[in-house]
Amino acid sequence: MRIYREKDYEAMSRRAAAVIAGEIIHNPACVLGLATGSTPEGAYRYLVDWYKQGFINFRHVLSVNLDEYVGLSPDHDQSYRYFMQSNLFDHVDIVPENTRVPDGLTADTDAECARYDAYILSLGYASLQLLGIGRNGHIGFNEPGDCFVKQTHVVDLTESTIDANARFFPTWDDVPKQAISMGMGAIMGAKKILLCASGEEKADAIYNSVCGPITPGCPGSILQLHPNVVLVADEAALSKLIAAGVKV
Ligand code: F6R
Repeated sequence: MRIYREKDYEAMSRRAAAVIAGEIIHNPACVLGLATGSTPEGAYRYLVDWYKQGFINFRHVLSVNLDEYVGLSPDHDQSYRYFMQSNLFDHVDIVPENTRVPDGLTADTDAECARYDAYILSLGYASLQLLGIGRNGHIGFNEPGDCFVKQTHVVDLTESTIDANARFFPTWDDVPKQAISMGMGAIMGAKKILLCASGEEKADAIYNSVCGPITPGCPGSILQLHPNVVLVADEAALSKLIAAGVKV
């Protein structure tokens, strides 16, 4: 695992964007596995800026997102489709049909999950999978549990995740309690993984993912088994690794 230690959120965002831009420049028809949440917002801002300056384009890029809330429509301002449109897709030249986010409104979640996996498989998996990480170590919405789930699946979000998401909704009751998430098969199938983290509240999850036992109790720990992971994090998120004497 290559670790980039950055001073703060802004530097983390710029470095993460540089890794993604590098992938696009190297392979203009790459498949980007994309994430939502606070962590990648800054990186998307840099990518939009670099697109506007003509350094990169998304003409041939395909994207598959990690997850979507069950029950939210694409135009709900807290849906992950809406997030992707407003943070990235609406501002660059990506072809709309080349962007995929699980359908949170599907009447048949099993069929939607199977369809999503078949699509990712048909692309040969992501060239680069971008990941944030939950305070409890979740990646995508693969929450801590008894096993790693391979396929795209419906997840009952944990209380800690619902609490973390509650800041975006009027009340706790409005926060979706389920999501469709890519499973570990699609995530680990990516040729390269870019894990990003910022802030002290992620320090335990990063420490456990990098140094802890490989266990579904900390879903991020599965990344230790991937041969090509780049971790881009700020000093606060790396603080437990630094305190433990890990060279970063
Ligand atoms: C988002 C996702 C989640 C987030 C994680 C961290 O698509 O899959 O795993 O990456 O919950 O969220 P933030 O970045 O908001 O701290």
